[in-house]
Amino acid sequence: MTNEQAILRAVDVNKSFGGLSAVSALNVEIGPGEIVGLIGPNGAGKTTTFNLITGVYKPTSGKVYFRGTDITGKKPHAITRMGVARTFQNIRLFKDMSVLDNVLVAQHMRMGVNLFEATLRLPSYTEKERRSHEEARALLAQVGLESHESDPATSLPYGKQRRLEIARALATKPSLLFLDEPAAGMNPQESMELMDFILRIRERFGLTIVLIEHHMQVVMGVCERMYVLDYGMTIAHGTPEEVQKDPKVIEAYLGVE
Ligand SMILES: Nc1ncnc2c1ncn2[C@@H]1O[C@H](COP(=O)(O)OP(=O)(O)OP(=O)(O)O)[C@@H](O)[C@H]1O
Ligand SMILES: [Mg+2]
Repeated sequence: MTNEQAILRAVDVNKSFGGLSAVSALNVEIGPGEIVGLIGPNGAGKTTTFNLITGVYKPTSGKVYFRGTDITGKKPHAITRMGVARTFQNIRLFKDMSVLDNVLVAQHMRMGVNLFEATLRLPSYTEKERRSHEEARALLAQVGLESHESDPATSLPYGKQRRLEIARALATKPSLLFLDEPAAGMNPQESMELMDFILRIRERFGLTIVLIEHHMQVVMGVCERMYVLDYGMTIAHGTPEEVQKDPKVIEAYLGVE
């Protein structure tokens, strides 16, 4: 893979919080259409890695490139607009809003509805609104939530809230999607469905996906490649088969000498 072909490249990225080195010498390269796993014990630096790439944190040093463009230190909304979306480890839905409204809010960010148009209810606004409702409903159908559009977001069972979070991310029309522990809190049945779902949305939306997941069956089942972090360092990367039998990985997970 050449630098131009990579969807995402992190080059020697470091992040420290005070004296703590949360991510060290991170070098990651993701190709178009890949599903890549990011695993490691608690506190390994996985979420921090997502935060560094999506603009929540600025790296202490190093560079992040999205489709060859340097996005290091850009603001999260600017990175979202370029086509990078994410979900959060702790679900961040608007709790009092309906399922449909949660998707509409995410869409608005991309549609560029302005307050002037909205207040005066200009034809340009109503047309945009009609179109965004249509798109939001289509998206809900894609994630199997079409029968829930009027329900309050928090009335959904956990697995469906995770799907709604993904629908919200998809509403920003990303080409690169980051999922932070999408199977967390799901029962085994929901986790199995999630694997199918991830494969399906990759095809349907032409996505490249990076996922953090503790649920090994899910990671091993959907990821073509993975990176393993421990104490902020990348201790292994390769196919699930390669990574699984790597002594450094076994040691990190089991704590054996
Ligand atoms: N904003 C912050 N300020 C200070 N320390 C932080 C901050 N964010 C993360 N850390 C620290 O950085 C390290 C990596 O945290 P991170 O959340 O990236 O881990 P993780 O691999 O996602 O873990 P988990 O599996 O528990 O979600 C931890 O030691 C954490 O306490
Ligand atoms: Mg985390």
